[in-house]
Amino acid sequence: MPSLYYLDRDGLLPEKLCIVGAARSALGHEGFIAQARKALEERGDAIDETAWQHFSARLHYSPVDAGAASGFEALGALLEEVNPGGDHMFYLSLSPDFYADICGRLRQSGLATAGSRIIIEKPIGHDLDSCRAINAALLSAFSEDRIFRIDHYLGKETVQNLLALRFANILFEPLWNKAHIDHVEITVFETVGVENRWGYYDQYGALRDMVQNHVLQLLCLVALEPPAKLDPDAVRDEKVKVLRSLKPIAGRDVLIKTVRGQYADGSIGGANVPGYAREAGGKPSDTESFVALCAEIDNWRWSGVPFYLRTGKRMGQRLTEIVVQFRAVPHSVFGGDGDNDLIPNRLTITLQPEERISLALMNKTPGLTEQGWRMNPLSLNLSLTDAFKTHRRRIAYEQLLLDALHGNQTLFVRGDETEAAWRWIDGIVAGWKQTRQKPEPYWAGSDGPDRAGSFWCKEHKT
Ligand code: BG6
Repeated sequence: MPSLYYLDRDGLLPEKLCIVGAARSALGHEGFIAQARKALEERGDAIDETAWQHFSARLHYSPVDAGAASGFEALGALLEEVNPGGDHMFYLSLSPDFYADICGRLRQSGLATAGSRIIIEKPIGHDLDSCRAINAALLSAFSEDRIFRIDHYLGKETVQNLLALRFANILFEPLWNKAHIDHVEITVFETVGVENRWGYYDQYGALRDMVQNHVLQLLCLVALEPPAKLDPDAVRDEKVKVLRSLKPIAGRDVLIKTVRGQYADGSIGGANVPGYAREAGGKPSDTESFVALCAEIDNWRWSGVPFYLRTGKRMGQRLTEIVVQFRAVPHSVFGGDGDNDLIPNRLTITLQPEERISLALMNKTPGLTEQGWRMNPLSLNLSLTDAFKTHRRRIAYEQLLLDALHGNQTLFVRGDETEAAWRWIDGIVAGWKQTRQKPEPYWAGSDGPDRAGSFWCKEHKT
């Protein structure tokens, strides 16, 4: 809702566009508008009242219960009233268990016309089989060029900047391979817990909720070959190739290449927070809220380069970053007495909480020298937040909704991508099952289970 409001305020929504909310609650028209307003207020941004009046006039509501399959007729009637004979864009943001049924209903009722589009939220299923079933149901009602599988990480400015950094500069691409890169780290840490999303989250866990989509998308953008151009299929073809080249982590491999964790009671920012099981009223669960993995891409460019992936809830800090660790120079002309070792270059792309790109380079420490130069690492910093101070930091969904309205799928996930990602994830899940690998506890507010620290550091070559 806030994203749609901002698009409307900036004059980017088609004048006749109506937004119809559909959910189980008997909210009513006014209730829906009040909820949209609340969503905006909760962001803490100043609301432009004229823009709000214009926006709220677009809002309508029709209760629908996807589980009980009721309310679709009334929804159809309302759509016909507000957009007579027009094409619609549907947006499904609910449990993937309902996706296939809803697609069937949209097809049977004639609401899914040749000109309509559908946006669906991740996760697309729970595993490869359920993902295939959803993709088939989607294709029975919409053609692939009308299906927009949303992954909001692709709407984040710095994620797109990763492509700009790689392909709009000459500096990095010649070094972007196993000859010069030692390893890559991708971290997505959140301070929030599962809280009231336990019902959904407990069925999925960190691997399915975060790694299958957001984290693998980040990995793809780091690892993909240069697409011929920034068009939807050129980019997505390259992402699929990366996903298909992921080396399976299966069977007993999971014991050395993965760490699972679940948060226990702890404290974050001075406030006590309950553990995972306590959030569900003390129900014991084997679902992981933290996962660390060592992935490898079996192709010419990346063979043998570890990609360390980790994500967790209730961590000590909110941090999303990609670190590209280059190899050491082959020989130091500066000598080296231990204190003077050259530290390999490191490119850090921070997505959250700040948007920043920094490159750690070795420098000579200023001053007179009698016994050789002293060297120190210093960073070249590119703070997007500072460089574009007058720009409002856009919500990731703004770009994605705008692209969907324009029919541009570059930042959306194609069906074969979702299936390739699930195939790799399913192997890990099967390995956990086979080895009975349970999540290890970690304190809320920490960096994850103890073993994750040593797993991460042990593998560091710097
Ligand atoms: C969602 C996950 O897709 O992304 C959530 O389902 C997670 O569990 C969220 O909290 C994180 O998004 P962001 O943009 O805050 O990093």
